[in-house]
Amino acid sequence: MGRDEVASLLQARGPDLAALYARADEARRICCGDGVPVRAIIEFSNMCSNDCLYCGLRASNAVPRRYRMTPEEILQAVARVAAAGVAGTVVLQAGETPGYRDEEITALLRQIRGKFPALAITLSVGNRPREVYAAWREAGMDRYLLRFETADADLFARLHPDGSLADRLQCLRDLQELGVQTGGGFMIGVPGETVETLADNIMLCQAFDFDMIGIGPFIPNPDTPLGAAANAYAADPDMFFRAIAVLRLANPAAHIPATTAFDAAFPNGRDLALQRGANVFMPNVTPGACRKDYQLYPKKPCVDGDADAEDGLGGVRKRLQALGRPIAGGPGHSLKR
Ligand code: 5AD
Repeated sequence: MGRDEVASLLQARGPDLAALYARADEARRICCGDGVPVRAIIEFSNMCSNDCLYCGLRASNAVPRRYRMTPEEILQAVARVAAAGVAGTVVLQAGETPGYRDEEITALLRQIRGKFPALAITLSVGNRPREVYAAWREAGMDRYLLRFETADADLFARLHPDGSLADRLQCLRDLQELGVQTGGGFMIGVPGETVETLADNIMLCQAFDFDMIGIGPFIPNPDTPLGAAANAYAADPDMFFRAIAVLRLANPAAHIPATTAFDAAFPNGRDLALQRGANVFMPNVTPGACRKDYQLYPKKPCVDGDADAEDGLGGVRKRLQALGRPIAGGPGHSLKR
């Protein structure tokens, strides 16, 4: 799909918009099927040395409690995921250093890989040198999530005092070259972006040909320098869904999750995303005691719940059933998915 078509579809309104959503849903059905892969997220540390202007975990933010789950606690959380038989993948996410040292993560990956051979392991802990990604791959990491956040290098630099877009893209290339299933993605509507930026974001995903693409609306966090800024599409929230629909058409075979931020930005946002191009669901299974301390943005869903609460693994089946979509592979299925 060319950039002109992407840019023009991002302007769709009225009957054209309904047609766009229907087309995206059809592309998702043909390329990915109706089954929804469930990938359970464990937020294992909220420590971070970066100061990204939008994120509640930024180093300068006085988060009430900085935590890191112990390896034992993480293994217990993974064991619960494995036992539930709903998710085929665990996603381990944390801030960037200094929560866990790289070697500690390597050891953790080895343990999880040894104990739970049927689960796929996704890691998401930011920019690292290629050798570190290589060591993690060797220790059992199957996938890595690293959003590029915006394709506009100047905007990236304004939002991220600690790194450049070029560095981030190099990390993504390293991961792909190492044979790691790689997920990129971006926020929708960061202050300073235009619909042109959004089109470029989608084109960059297409150029990388990512295995997974995670996108979600920017949500102003009052505890950050962008707390008073509005989402660039606050007056036109359909844009969040145009983005996911066009992303699907431009990347028909990619795994595209209905991310948590869709629920925070729009009522039933994740359900709508699953009907407009997304195919993956990522419930939060972080133990209850840690969840409230992993606030990237306000109104993040499931903060009061525990792993089995409505928005954790327990609610997933019900939620997908209501959409008429089975869990991919089905319970007890041993395929990594
Ligand atoms: N609004 C929306 N998404 C956010 N993220 C971080 N802060 C916010 C926010 N205020 C997203 C970033 C990051 C992912 C883990 O969370 O895209 O890559």
